[in-house]
Amino acid sequence: MTALAWTDALQLQHEELDRTHEEFVQLLNEVEAALPDQPWDAFQRLLAHTEAHFAMEEGWMQQLGFEPENCHSRQHTMVLELMREVGTRYQAGEHEPLERLVPALAEWFPQHAEMMDAALVFTLQQQGAAA
Ligand SMILES: [Fe+2]
Ligand SMILES: [Fe+2]
Repeated sequence: MTALAWTDALQLQHEELDRTHEEFVQLLNEVEAALPDQPWDAFQRLLAHTEAHFAMEEGWMQQLGFEPENCHSRQHTMVLELMREVGTRYQAGEHEPLERLVPALAEWFPQHAEMMDAALVFTLQQQGAAA
């Protein structure tokens, strides 16, 4: 089963970010495919990728002069904290939070991309940076 499909609607017309987002969707689907028995390695890849993905966006925000504690960054922080917590619980033998995280991320991601990331791309393009 596929947790989330990569569609044109998710494209933000920013090559690097679109490639990163497509990889995120692919890695999320790999976690889904590995459930319920073997999701750990795929989850580690998704977590590492998400850390780099968010750090890339944070770097752009910094270049653009965003406040470090802005709403977009706070959402990244919350998602990473949740993912790390779910990983800790998985390793402690609690598997259900990871099973619930996959559909939650599949629901969260399109909203985040269409609102937060799209606004970031718009600002980057307005300022002619990294577009
Ligand atoms: Fe993003
Ligand atoms: Fe973002």
